[in-house]
Amino acid sequence: MNSESNEPSVVALEHVQVRLGGRIIQEDMNFSVQDGEFIAILGPNGAGKSTLLKLLLGLVKPHAGSVRVLGRAPSKGNKDIGYAPQFRMVEADFALRARDIVRFGLDGNKWGPGWPNRKRDELIEQVLQEVNALSFADAPVGQLSGGEQQRLLIAQALLTGPRLLLLDEPLANLDIAHGQEIVALVKTVCRSRNVAVMLVTHDVNPLLPAVDRVLYMANGQCAIGTPQEVITSQILSNLYGSQVEVVKALGSMFVVGVQI
Ligand SMILES: Nc1ncnc2c1ncn2[C@@H]1O[C@H](COP(=O)(O)OP(=O)(O)OP(=O)(O)O)[C@@H](O)[C@H]1O
Ligand SMILES: [Mg+2]
Repeated sequence: MNSESNEPSVVALEHVQVRLGGRIIQEDMNFSVQDGEFIAILGPNGAGKSTLLKLLLGLVKPHAGSVRVLGRAPSKGNKDIGYAPQFRMVEADFALRARDIVRFGLDGNKWGPGWPNRKRDELIEQVLQEVNALSFADAPVGQLSGGEQQRLLIAQALLTGPRLLLLDEPLANLDIAHGQEIVALVKTVCRSRNVAVMLVTHDVNPLLPAVDRVLYMANGQCAIGTPQEVITSQILSNLYGSQVEVVKALGSMFVVGVQI
């Protein structure tokens, strides 16, 4: 429960164990996320970051423990969740227009093609504007940069007016400047819609000015708190079970000794 009201937390995990293919991916996850919180999910390849998002989407079942999303068990096709999956750039000859990709968020699944055209087009226009994508809305997707394609995925995820936005590695393959642009955009969306955001990344530095907390997953364990609380030599050495040094310089944090 949210401590300041009777509303349920957006996300609540209690003693969640995740196993895949007979292997324990996460041992015992316990945390909750409140309305409008911005959380970064960090950890090395295979730590279970994408799997955690799939757990919230109802695509993976916990082996043990309780998972609640807005007070209910996860279910597929939940309109309260917007999801931008881990993604690779589309081929250069991919000819669909940018706005068609966004439209898939309506036609492709949740609301079906029965929606009135005018209302649908208005909604698509609105989210394209929100992510600053109107200037390339009619361009073939294959010609767009990684940052532009990422904006479209975020726009698509916003179509149903979610309370929880799950973004799997939206900064992958972006340079620092374009990564910062996406972070600023997500922060604005998070605040203006009061939507909770869980964003998977391998580098916390572009997110340091924006996030409320980080969830760090490694070696079957996890830790959650502010970046200053979690990204310390002691906490990360405990998580990884080996010697980790966190070096702080020029306002950035660098984890030394292990893969991140
Ligand atoms: N359906 C499945 N069956 C068996 N094992 C799986 C399945 N899906 C994922 N895994 C394994 O679970 C582990 C966690 O995978 P996951 O994709 O969640 O990692 P991740 O933290 O997102 O990694 P990355 O940073 O590479 O995206 C990996 O070792 C992966 O091979
Ligand atoms: Mg992943």
